[in-house]
Amino acid sequence: MEITSRAIFISCIILSFFLTSLAQTCKKYTFPSNHVFNSCRDLTVLDAHLHWTYLPPTKSVHIAYRATQTPTGWISWAINPTGSGMIGSRAIVAFRHLNGSMNVYPTPINSYNPSMSPGALTIPISNISATYANKEMTIFAFLGPLVNGTTFNHVWQAGSTVSNSIPQIHSTSGPNVESLETLDFLS
Ligand SMILES: *[C@@H]1O[C@H](CO)[C@@H](O)[C@H](O)[C@H]1NC(C)=O
Ligand SMILES: *[C@@H]1O[C@H](CO)[C@@H](O)[C@H](O)[C@H]1NC(C)=O
Ligand SMILES: *[C@@H]1O[C@H](CO)[C@@H](O)[C@H](O)[C@H]1NC(C)=O
Repeated sequence: MEITSRAIFISCIILSFFLTSLAQTCKKYTFPSNHVFNSCRDLTVLDAHLHWTYLPPTKSVHIAYRATQTPTGWISWAINPTGSGMIGSRAIVAFRHLNGSMNVYPTPINSYNPSMSPGALTIPISNISATYANKEMTIFAFLGPLVNGTTFNHVWQAGSTVSNSIPQIHSTSGPNVESLETLDFLS
């Protein structure tokens, strides 16, 4: 009896470990470039994944945000240092030009009708780049130093249209309004 319950207990642990690693598909993902990240999360909506490495000495974080997208759509990932949700978030937006090259830049989101054009962020950000491959857009960036600790509200977004190099409004219902959570870069 003792041995049976222990066997069941151990099986459950193995099973839950297996299910957890199955659920975290991001852990199996290898970047085609030489980017490597220590941590990742499959995000709850918009078929999106966040990969990151937190660097304690410089209080900075190297991130990759990737999401399924059509060639003519746009993606965005943001951290919000002073609130939650869209307003006040410091975003990076990416989309593909018609000639195939990627456009990626920071943009502050200060209203529900933001310009979505390039602008400075209050958080130091560097080495921004983006790729489009296998129906996924990916944003790479370094953020930091992050002087307020390692826990942030982050927000991610996607839209189907870019007009005159300006990403157009995203859907305002369903997954597009559920794309936010709190994240500890040390987790
Ligand atoms: C740190 O937090 C303060 C207070 O919320 C905020 O004003 C400031 O923008 C934050 N700085 C960074 C770099 O996140
Ligand atoms: C692609 O188009 C964009 C926008 O017109 C332009 O800024 C960029 O230089 C072009 N890239 C190439 C490789 O032609
Ligand atoms: C940022 O990019 C530059 C130029 O490619 C490179 O020299 C530097 O090492 C990069 N910074 C980080 C933190 O990777």
